[in-house]
Amino acid sequence: MAKHTVVAMPGDGIGQLVLPEAVRVLCQVGFDAEYVHGDIGWEFWITEGNPLPERTVDLLREHQLGLFGAITSKPKKEAAMELRPELRGKGHEYFSPIVGMRQIFNLDVCVRPCRSFPGNPLNFVRQTPDGGHEEPNVDAVIFRQNTEGLYCGIEWTDPPQVVRNALGMHPKYKPFADVLGEDVAISVRLFTRNACRRIVRAAFEYAKRHGYPSVTVCEKPNVLRETSGMMEDVARDVHANFPDIKLWSTNIDAQMMWLTKNPEDYSVLVAGNLFGDIISDAFAGLVGGLGFACSGNIGDDVAVFEPTHGSAPKYAELDPPIVNPIAMILSGAMLLEHVGESEKAERVRTAVARVVREGKVRTYDMLRLPGGPDVTRRGAATTTQLTDAILGVLA
Ligand code: NAI
Ligand code: MG
Repeated sequence: MAKHTVVAMPGDGIGQLVLPEAVRVLCQVGFDAEYVHGDIGWEFWITEGNPLPERTVDLLREHQLGLFGAITSKPKKEAAMELRPELRGKGHEYFSPIVGMRQIFNLDVCVRPCRSFPGNPLNFVRQTPDGGHEEPNVDAVIFRQNTEGLYCGIEWTDPPQVVRNALGMHPKYKPFADVLGEDVAISVRLFTRNACRRIVRAAFEYAKRHGYPSVTVCEKPNVLRETSGMMEDVARDVHANFPDIKLWSTNIDAQMMWLTKNPEDYSVLVAGNLFGDIISDAFAGLVGGLGFACSGNIGDDVAVFEPTHGSAPKYAELDPPIVNPIAMILSGAMLLEHVGESEKAERVRTAVARVVREGKVRTYDMLRLPGGPDVTRRGAATTTQLTDAILGVLA
């Protein structure tokens, strides 16, 4: 019997193309695992009214380790229209299966490393005062609270009267009190101290384990005094246990501005759900974009690793596939790290780094070509060829 069982959930679109590539790499590096398939995504919404079938939840509960590709999701009305006729009007409502997974298993710690690989033509380049150029080395790891904040799912258009009454207790509600129900939408930003502590502690522990000098809390406490304020309070508390690591604080808006000024100064960053989502995409943009952005969703029992890109439907049907498998492969490396196979994880990252540096095999995104069926004729590697190059280095 294999040492680990991984629930492999390819999902939709290019998720189905890149996930098998990561599995090839994990096999090649000698990861002792077997893979069981987990259904997830649009197909299951249409046919079953549930994009995250209970059988997949059971598999995750049993094996506690998941590798996930990507899913397609669509706005509420469109989703309802695509549901099979016999399922319509039965109270099925589309929800994101990723958010669902995070909530069911309390995968509250989201880790998104954004590291530049030397030689990647997509790396951020900055102009120097003398008109030259420099390429700062970006090595940022974003810790995003994954289950609360503005994505906690508590929202209404036309909120119930009791909610409006409760809000009426707040003096700042006055200007909104007379707005008609259907003209009011509310999304709740809810933080709990416990979840703040868990994400901040995970960030500090990571910084300590990997020798990073600082943890930066990236929130907006001057305006969001209660929620961002709580995250900052907790960070100061937790920091007391990590005296060797500096605690910095930046505002999300200013951080976005500084992003291209001095990204090399940031190492571990921590933020609530929405700001963490924003800042991690922003840092990913400096190191190659969606083709390079990997992530882990980690709870006490279950952990699921996934590229941050979506299902990119317009590339899903191209034969041969042209999308970049590196984000998925690096997510596989994060899975290795998570189960204690750090040496294998490092081998995978080193192999990716070498293929990127040598630059002989590059998918269309790395050549800055517009994606399409003709990219291979224009010198781009296919998805498989890029993985093959990585396997070649690992061999
Ligand atoms: P997307 O990430 O699927 O694609 C945006 C663009 O990024 C693509 O058109 C392509 O140019 C590029 N891209 C993405 N992955 C790439 C790769 N591996 N290699 C090279 N280029 C790549 O985002 P989009 O188009 O906004 O959404 C498409 C669908 O995916 C939607 O249904 C959306 O809801 C869903 N989605 C799912 C996510 C997930 O499963 N975690 C995350 C984001 C979007
Ligand atoms: Mg995102």
